[in-house]
Amino acid sequence: MTSKAQQWSSQRAFILAVTGAAVGLGNIWRFPYMTGENGGSAFLLLYILFVLILGLPVMMAEIMVGRAGRAGPMQSLMNMARENGASPQWRHIATLGAVTLFLILSFYGVVSGWSLAYIGKSISGDFAGQPPNVIGGIFGQFLENVPLLLICHLIFMVLTMAVVARGVTQGLERLNNLLMPLLYLLLLLLAGYAVTTPGFGEAMKWLFLPNPEAITWKATLDAMGHAFFTLAIGACALMAYGAYMPPEQSLPKAVIAVAILDVGVALLSGIAIFSVVFSHGMEPAGGPGLMFVTLPIAFSDITGGTWLSAAFFVLLLLATWTSSINLAEPMVAMLIDKGWRRGQAAFAVGVAVWAMGVLSALSFNVLSDVFPLQALGGIFAGKTVFDLVSSIPPDIFLPLGGLLIAIFATRVMPASDGRAALGGGEAFYRRWRKITVMISAPLVALVLFVSLLKLWGVF
Ligand code: TRP
Repeated sequence: MTSKAQQWSSQRAFILAVTGAAVGLGNIWRFPYMTGENGGSAFLLLYILFVLILGLPVMMAEIMVGRAGRAGPMQSLMNMARENGASPQWRHIATLGAVTLFLILSFYGVVSGWSLAYIGKSISGDFAGQPPNVIGGIFGQFLENVPLLLICHLIFMVLTMAVVARGVTQGLERLNNLLMPLLYLLLLLLAGYAVTTPGFGEAMKWLFLPNPEAITWKATLDAMGHAFFTLAIGACALMAYGAYMPPEQSLPKAVIAVAILDVGVALLSGIAIFSVVFSHGMEPAGGPGLMFVTLPIAFSDITGGTWLSAAFFVLLLLATWTSSINLAEPMVAMLIDKGWRRGQAAFAVGVAVWAMGVLSALSFNVLSDVFPLQALGGIFAGKTVFDLVSSIPPDIFLPLGGLLIAIFATRVMPASDGRAALGGGEAFYRRWRKITVMISAPLVALVLFVSLLKLWGVF
């Protein structure tokens, strides 16, 4: 009986941990702003398609490798490569992952810091009864307030690394288990409010009415990158979670459940945000500030909005907290494997990520005219540090990592291990393998290759 209870709890623990990693800024902040920049329904369609045909199979592959390897990502990759006569260099999929996570966490911490500041602004009633242009102005002024930006960023990084340093993520995941349904409820409330606004119809058309002309290579690359980003895959960050799965748990079911929740949260956020956009004649391509301007406008229009807004940013902060812990943990685990103590490793990673993040925070003010990779042209031109770290690692490194993981899981990992790790029966394994080899991997390679050449103006 005890063993059953334990397994039940670890089964839940697995889904909780993966959900905690997946649901975050990607759903509520990044998804709407990417959709806004890429023509609405065109992006949404590509994104959902990529979640289904790339995200699900690669997510399974990534967790399978961890489940079969039963160790940290680098160790799992190396052991399995050795045992199967492949080169131990395969472990560098985890190195690429660590670089990717480092860059992603650097801007993730900055934007999470914005949510922290917005808790304070909500409570102090800054938005209450204000017209949309004033609420937009508050965000603009906030980005100019360098000390406040840096303090919020610092506090968030300390919160994240404090949890990672102690290795106590399970407590936070349990807290999230209790509180995340409230976040979903608030998003439902916002979507319900959206239905009553004059821009709702236009927002729905813009989001869901097919618009094939808007399908560009940039939209395709962004949608692919965002599918990986939102599912937290392609950087070996979910790999380690597989090791905790009880033997009889079905990986496909867990992965599909998380993906449905993840896409659902993004859709609710999109509906709420674009209804505000179209109700007030705003620009859908509002950039990274989109959510921070539109949702306070919505809350200022609802009775009790001050407190709802404060609650929303508290819950968002919790969601981003578990995501950023997931981003940080693999880097810390890697140093621990090299003999570091956990506390030291967390401190070193925290300081390095924080320092990189400062450059992102300053990209909105003192460094707003600095385009470090201008000389490379193409996708690097005209981009600040923030623009670079928030686009290149999600759009290029995550799919590349995912592609390598898919190749590893289907070519290096023996079918017998794969079948056991996937846990959906023989026929399902064969179908997964076929889809991964014939569709997912080639499609990632194709989109990466063509869109990069296109965006560089090669043809
Ligand atoms: N999925 C998270 C979000 O949507 C971000 C995230 C957490 C992530 N862990 C990750 C992205 C690992 C890539 C890799 O906010």
